[in-house]
Parts: sequence; structure tokens; C-alpha cells
Amino acid sequence: MTETLPAIAVIGGTGNLGSALARRLAIAGRRVLIGSRDRDRAKAAAEALGHGVGSGTNAEAAAAADVIIVAVPFASQKATLQDIAPHVVGKIVVDTTVPLMPPKVMRVQLPPEGSAAVIAQALLGAGVRVVSAFHNVAAHKLATDEQVECDVLVFGDDRKARDVVVEIAAACGLRGLHGGALVNSAAAEALTSIIIFINKTYGVDGAGMRITGHLVPPAVG
Ligand SMILES: NC(=O)c1ccc[n+]([C@@H]2O[C@H](COP(=O)([O-])OP(=O)(O)OC[C@H]3O[C@@H](n4cnc5c(N)ncnc54)[C@H](OP(=O)(O)O)[C@@H]3O)[C@@H](O)[C@H]2O)c1
Repeated sequence: MTETLPAIAVIGGTGNLGSALARRLAIAGRRVLIGSRDRDRAKAAAEALGHGVGSGTNAEAAAAADVIIVAVPFASQKATLQDIAPHVVGKIVVDTTVPLMPPKVMRVQLPPEGSAAVIAQALLGAGVRVVSAFHNVAAHKLATDEQVECDVLVFGDDRKARDVVVEIAAACGLRGLHGGALVNSAAAEALTSIIIFINKTYGVDGAGMRITGHLVPPAVG
């Protein structure tokens, strides 16, 4: 069954968010590849995860996958995307980047382009379906086996690509919800600064975000 599911590369899969996503996806039986700037670091991270997780440089992992999750700091987003760009044409790239500008991470400071997701789409071009997601999930919570109390808003201009990422969120034990067009990603990217502020103000160990109400699943297609 897993053969029919997309192979998923996690670029920056050695990091906090990437390794937590890779772990949950691997446990769910997905084909996962860890990417890193350093092949040996990727190999060590993959071996630590087990579950048959593969590894390579970021470019190698991207080339071998159908869906490419990018989980690197905003400061290195552009360089990372430029590195994998030749290997992601025709594929889905899931950008998780929150454009935090340290040290003022509790302030919303969106880039002039509007959002990290819009930057990714502009850089990769129309031949790549960019979806953004996972902005509001605390990586250290995701790294456990516990239920994470956070919805995942999924943004992108291609509905079918969003469907794929909603399903990937579900494989991670999270409720993924369509959030609409890629430009809407700015709202979730901004919300992360507010969540960090709430964590500090109210002493929360990784606050989450929930959409309330009875949601009727959207029509397919
Ligand atoms: N942490 C969270 O709770 C969380 C939640 C939601 C969204 N996000 C977003 O997810 C992305 C990744 O966050 P993270 O906390 O997982 O980051 P991180 O652990 O600090 O870094 C992730 C990986 O990025 C790679 N990297 C590439 N260029 C880098 C550079 N110049 N400096 C440092 N690392 C670099 C590193 O992998 P190699 O050295 O192996 O190449 C590193 O392991 C960010 O955009 C963040 O805003 C994070």
C-alpha cells in the first residue's frame, strides 16, 4: 500500500520541526527521506529515526521524492529553495517557513513580499505547486507520541496539492484544514508570533491553535 503513497523528503529534516515530522510520517508507514546540507548529518538523523527512513543531501532527497517538505529557518529559506529548485519541478513543495526575525520573534514581521510562502512560490516558479502548512505546531510537542492539540492550516493555489498536504497532516496525527489561497498563508505565519507571545505571557509549554465549530468535509475535486 505504501508504494502508492508519495515519497516524502524533509529538507532540514535534521532540525526540530523536520525531524518531528519525519518521525511521525515514518511511524505512519510513509516513505520518508531526510535531507540536510550535510549528507552524513542526514544519514545519522535517518538512522536515529529508524523505520527505513532514507537520507541524502537536500538536493538528493528532493530528487528522490514526490512531495518535498521544507523545514529550515527563514534566513536560509531562499538558499535552500535555490538548492533544491532543479529537483522539484512538477512536484509539491510544502513550505513550513515562519518569517521570524530574531530577536523580536513575538512581533509579527512579515516580509515585504507578503509571506514566506509567496517568496517560495515566486522563487520556484509556476511549475512547482507550493503549499504552506505546519506554521503553528510546536515541534517539541510533535516530537512526542502525545496528541498535539493544534490544527494545521493548509494554504495553496492548487486544491489537489492542498488535499495531499491535509492528508500528510493526518498521517502526523494532526487535523489539516484547507485555509485557501497561498496568499492567505500570511495569516498563519503571523499567528506564530502571537502563539510565542501567548506561551511567554501565560506560561504555556507550546500553545496550539484550533478552529472550532462542526466542520462538514469539503466536496472532493
Ligand atoms: N520549531 C518549531 O516549533 C516550528 C514550528 C512551526 C514552524 N517552524 C518553522 O519551521 C522551520 C524550521 O524550524 P526549526 O525549528 O526546525 O529549525 P532548526 O531546527 O533551527 O533548523 C532546521 C534545519 O535547517 C537547516 N539549516 C539550513 N540552513 C541553516 C542555517 N543557516 N542555520 C541553521 N540551520 C540551517 C539545518 O539542517 P542541516 O544543518 O542539516 O542542513 C537545521 O537542522 C522554520 O522556518 C520555522 O519557522 C518551526
